[in-house]
Amino acid sequence: MKIAILGGTGSIGEGFALRWAEKHDISICSREVDRAVSAADEYTETLSNKGMVCCGITGCTNEVGIRDVDVVVLSVPYQGVISLLKNLRPCFKDQIVISLVVPMKKNTWFEYTPPKQGSAALEIRDVLPKGVKVVSAYHNVSAKKLANIELALDYDVVVCGDDESAKKTVVELTREIKNLRPLDGGGLASSYMIESLTPFLINLAIRNGLSDLGVKFI
Ligand SMILES: NC(=O)c1ccc[n+]([C@@H]2O[C@H](COP(=O)([O-])OP(=O)(O)OC[C@H]3O[C@@H](n4cnc5c(N)ncnc54)[C@H](OP(=O)(O)O)[C@@H]3O)[C@@H](O)[C@H]2O)c1
Repeated sequence: MKIAILGGTGSIGEGFALRWAEKHDISICSREVDRAVSAADEYTETLSNKGMVCCGITGCTNEVGIRDVDVVVLSVPYQGVISLLKNLRPCFKDQIVISLVVPMKKNTWFEYTPPKQGSAALEIRDVLPKGVKVVSAYHNVSAKKLANIELALDYDVVVCGDDESAKKTVVELTREIKNLRPLDGGGLASSYMIESLTPFLINLAIRNGLSDLGVKFI
């Protein structure tokens, strides 16, 4: 598959690129092409130094990256994602869009701050063309652990979406990441429950002297 990672120059984008490059063509997308190219070169070198196979990681602008791809990963902070998607709307058609976006802010502790639609995923669905299939996943996966490609991530990933075929694709992509267990979380309307766990996990980590907490249902 062809996968574009918007904001792929940032923390969690790197991990997805490294983990999926063995089987898929990856576009690292950025607002600045130079930043995208340099991140793509860096990730390619990381894989090469570890002797790992890579289908190809290239860098480009967000606009170029999302045309003619199967999957677009939204790896951009909530504060910028809606205006970015409004500008990019003409480049979208029928792609699968994976939202891992968590709207949250820090007061004394981190708080979930959903938009009026109820979740980032629902707001994102509303700004994209009807043919785009939004799937919500990976909100509780640590960027640091994801980028450590030797590490088996013993987490569950709840996948929410209204298009069963798109959800199946995300479930399969999740299975490709060592030890991640995808779980069907129902429709996109359920996304708020999983998004809101992220600030809760960060607060738990701070209060208990832990780091990079994830979720496992047993
Ligand atoms: N970090 C985690 O552990 C983690 C875990 C689960 C979910 N998430 C979610 O994943 C998303 C990305 O998180 P992150 O930690 O990777 O974020 P990040 O490193 O702060 O940013 C990722 C990339 O987004 C682009 N960006 C930043 N501000 C932007 C804006 N205003 N408009 C358009 N693009 C902008 C930047 O790329 P360019 O400057 O190159 O365009 C940046 O490199 C967030 O929605 C977050 O809630 C993160």
